[in-house]
Amino acid sequence: MNQKLNKDIFVTTPIYYVNDKPHIGSAYTTLVCDSVSRMLKLMGHNVYFMTGTDEHGQKVEKAALNAGKEPQSFVDEVSQHFRDLVSHMKISPSRFIRTTEPDHIKAAQALWKAIKDNGYIYLGSYDGWYAMRDEAFYAEDELVEGKAPTGAEVEWVSEPSYFFKLSAFQDKLLEHIQNNPDFIQPTSKHNEVVRFIEGGLKDLSISRTTFKWGIPVEEDPKHVMYVWLDALTNYLTVLGYPDKESENFQKFWPNCIHFIGKDILRFHAVYWPAFLMAAGLDVPQHVYAHGWWTNEGQKISKSLGNTIDPIALIDEFGIDAVRYYLLREVPLGNDGNFSKAGLVSRLNSDLANAYGNLVRRITSFIHVHCQGQVPQHSEFSEEELTLFQKGVDLGQKANIFNITHFIDDINQYVHFLNKYVDEMAPWKLKNTNRELMEHILYVALEAIKRITILYLPFIPIAASKVLDALNIDDNHRLYENIDLYLTSGDIIQEIDILFQKKDMT
Ligand code: MSP
Repeated sequence: MNQKLNKDIFVTTPIYYVNDKPHIGSAYTTLVCDSVSRMLKLMGHNVYFMTGTDEHGQKVEKAALNAGKEPQSFVDEVSQHFRDLVSHMKISPSRFIRTTEPDHIKAAQALWKAIKDNGYIYLGSYDGWYAMRDEAFYAEDELVEGKAPTGAEVEWVSEPSYFFKLSAFQDKLLEHIQNNPDFIQPTSKHNEVVRFIEGGLKDLSISRTTFKWGIPVEEDPKHVMYVWLDALTNYLTVLGYPDKESENFQKFWPNCIHFIGKDILRFHAVYWPAFLMAAGLDVPQHVYAHGWWTNEGQKISKSLGNTIDPIALIDEFGIDAVRYYLLREVPLGNDGNFSKAGLVSRLNSDLANAYGNLVRRITSFIHVHCQGQVPQHSEFSEEELTLFQKGVDLGQKANIFNITHFIDDINQYVHFLNKYVDEMAPWKLKNTNRELMEHILYVALEAIKRITILYLPFIPIAASKVLDALNIDDNHRLYENIDLYLTSGDIIQEIDILFQKKDMT
């Protein structure tokens, strides 16, 4: 088990706006979180993994209006696309939350009340800039050529509003961030947030009156809650808040890792911990901001018409190849450039050639020449023991914040095994030294098992097929049990081709 992490861990994706269909950005964080959750389980943790949709606010209301639909029926429809994507990705979160669900509305109102009761909400009026695309308020001096710093259009808003006393949390936030250097990751983002807070925090408008599509402020229902206060609360809702005694809340809060895109760092690393502190709740353990994908070198945007449909991509390449590519291609905190050629190249070289071929060669040879049974072995050489030990070492050093590197280490392991098999060439021994042939095949199969358990979080469909064929039960699919050896004589099933190579077109 990773020493710094609790036994019980809560892993979250951002909840996605339902103003439009899912795109590659909506799939990426979910894939990262699913892989991390699977890794954590293999490391012996209990995991609660959530995702869902963010359904209120002006942007969604406007999208519904443009579609000529009532907001509720519009969000029902679009949220379903996100749910479909999750099942298309063969992912089963502990909960898929929608912010229009009654328990969430109750939780958001309870959080508001807790903050208010502690004296951190007051009524005023907001006169300033608002960018609907970002659902964010901007100060005059933040604007760049009349637009938000993100490039979003801004409009002047003048309305009565409740405010959150964010300014009261400047010192506490800084203290918390500085005392917990791994709270905001990667380090560059930690520094960015520190600079932002040091620049001074102004009170934050947290209610709107000029549209209706939101959670009503209970004591003053002309106001709906600012969509970010509503949305962030979802992380508490799924754990049973406001019932702080509920089993999941007790177990999983605040042992939490929020994975987010870099554009929503301020909301998660400044506003969210401040809201929680104001309500007397603990602050989450980690916020990890990942980078953004471009498409073949270009910023992804609807107006450029270059959005990537994750469902089409999965249909073309298979979910394992897509997740492998996205996770292996770019280290988590960095920006990445999506390219089909890159995906095809990883699929062909790492998955089909290096791993898939190895599995197929060894298992079909065993099928034909060892009656489909785990072969016999004699004493292992130093080199063979090193090959086995690699699996144990890698399982121990698995790091959820450095997936790319971890996958690369597993690929190296595959490389070593391929080298061993090529050098030992068991196929040449079938008529001359059966005993040695079986021994080599045993070593190869045992190492394949170890490699496959390590790969399980990243290519779960193919890896499960292999482990099922080797009859490895769930208890043996744990990094700490990777050293439990296969038993000679056990039957193994045949394995089909795991990865079809694609042409580079
Ligand atoms: N609803 C808010 C999040 C609320 S969480 C309490 C939101 N939604 S979003 O749908 O606009 O964005 C969801 C996530 O997708 C964000 O983390 C964002 O960074 C990510 N991405 C959107 N486009 C992306 C890329 N091109 N590449 C990678 N991730 C990107 O913000």
